[in-house]
Amino acid sequence: VERQEFERRLRSLDIDLFDQIVSQTTRRDRRSLLALHNACRDAHGTFGYLEIGSHLGGSLQVLIADDRCTDITSIDLRPQGQPDTRGGAFEYPRNSTERMLGRLRRVPLADLDKLRTIDASTDEVSPADVRRPVQLCLIDGEHTDAAALRDARFCRELIRDSGAIVFHDRELVRGGIREFLSELEPPFRAYELPLSLFVVELGAPRLVESEWVAPLRE
Ligand SMILES: C[S@@+](CC[C@H](N)C(=O)[O-])C[C@H]1O[C@@H](n2cnc3c(N)ncnc32)[C@H](O)[C@@H]1O
Repeated sequence: VERQEFERRLRSLDIDLFDQIVSQTTRRDRRSLLALHNACRDAHGTFGYLEIGSHLGGSLQVLIADDRCTDITSIDLRPQGQPDTRGGAFEYPRNSTERMLGRLRRVPLADLDKLRTIDASTDEVSPADVRRPVQLCLIDGEHTDAAALRDARFCRELIRDSGAIVFHDRELVRGGIREFLSELEPPFRAYELPLSLFVVELGAPRLVESEWVAPLRE
């Protein structure tokens, strides 16, 4: 029953699914993330997810509970503060993987066995070391152009020619996104989703025209 209820809420884009753990995303971001999540289920059946920048696990809380997301990798350097395009340093006191795992464990239906955490920056890890199927990536780590570009290149090596890379806070990393797009060969599709997402689908686009994603496009 609990799983049926989860399915129903996921398919109705119920953003209250994000209420278990504080997430640094807006309501409209959450709706778009749920739409992409549903579109991946329809396109791939089951799929793997990787994110860079997890903090408390806010953007992982729905995927950790969905058994059609069979594999999750969370890459987070876990600094106590980080540089940011907005200037100054953003503080992340007591930032730790342990704390995130504690929160995720309390999410109903959560399966932590499918989660692998890597405490590092993407310049310290080789994509070859990930050795997991990945069809959907979220880039939400250090919000500078250089870091977003590095993270996107890393994701591209993982998903190769089939999958989607999603940037959060696109306005803060415009330069990194622009540079990344200039490196791509067709076919790919690039588009914005509310409120602050930028999506790049590599290979034949499988999400953008779906019943989930198409209605949300601005
Ligand atoms: C904006 S928060 C992530 C928010 C999360 N996705 C959510 O929805 O709540 C940014 C995270 O990126 C991590 N981070 C900072 N610099 C990083 C880097 N160079 N590589 C990977 N992660 C980094 C921080 O530790 C922090 O947890």
